[in-house]
Amino acid sequence: MTHTRTGGVPDRTGSASGGARAVLRGGARLRGLSKTYGSGEAAVSALDGVDLDLEAGELAVVLGPSGSGKTTLLNVLGGIEPADGGSLEVAGVDLTGRRPSRLAGFRRDHVGFVFQFFNLVPTLTARENVEVMAELTGRGARSDVTGLLESVGLGDRLDHFPAQLSGGQQQRVALARALVTDPDLLLADEPTGALDVSTGKAVLRLLQETNREGRGVLMVTHNAAVARMAHRVVHMRDGRIESVERNARPADVRDVDW
Ligand SMILES: Nc1ncnc2c1ncn2[C@@H]1O[C@H](COP(=O)(O)OP(=O)(O)OP(=O)(O)O)[C@@H](O)[C@H]1O
Ligand SMILES: [Mg+2]
Repeated sequence: MTHTRTGGVPDRTGSASGGARAVLRGGARLRGLSKTYGSGEAAVSALDGVDLDLEAGELAVVLGPSGSGKTTLLNVLGGIEPADGGSLEVAGVDLTGRRPSRLAGFRRDHVGFVFQFFNLVPTLTARENVEVMAELTGRGARSDVTGLLESVGLGDRLDHFPAQLSGGQQQRVALARALVTDPDLLLADEPTGALDVSTGKAVLRLLQETNREGRGVLMVTHNAAVARMAHRVVHMRDGRIESVERNARPADVRDVDW
């Protein structure tokens, strides 16, 4: 699924299984990160002093019970919302103390998001859903869109509307949309949560491929089996990092089962 744009980023033709080495992108360094929602008695500490390092080119998986702060972590890392305290650097950009109004450019230039429920625009076709992101951000070109949709196996569904696509196909459109800006870091919040096993594995395979092209990938999941494909597994509880495991030999998605 190699996808190159003109200018800016070098070609990435490498893969973990051989060939030229990919340019590794998208690391992060978080220190004492905190985020509280609400105030007074209703205050919820969603992130409570999070320290975390992600190396460039890593595929990381975040596990943890409901309400433990996983989505909040993703949102803060991706510049969807600011932290209240602590420091963070993502993809080489220091976001410490950055105001919400100054996070838009960071999101546009560095991150892609994939959500559990795809969030496609129902009145736009597969191609148009991806084109809109390219146009809104000024990153990626029309000519890339078809190639990207082909690379996620949807070359024959370009002009279908979301309602005419299966769940797995919709999620692959969402993935193409996230990749059209050529992000350093792909953030995925339970990307397989709404999918059956075989469809989910097809999406995970694409996430692994995009990681092997050198992009950082951080994925939240409730599925502990998926952690086998990660370089780093982050366990969260009550807004804190409970433990982090490194995995020297991540499994190929084909060998992951649940
Ligand atoms: N916008 C918000 N306003 C108020 N509280 C919030 C908001 N977003 C999250 N929270 C609270 O912050 C805590 C962490 O939420 P978060 O969504 O990060 O959890 P999560 O680990 O992603 O859970 P799940 O697995 O259910 O998706 C929860 O207690 C939640 O209720
Ligand atoms: Mg969540």
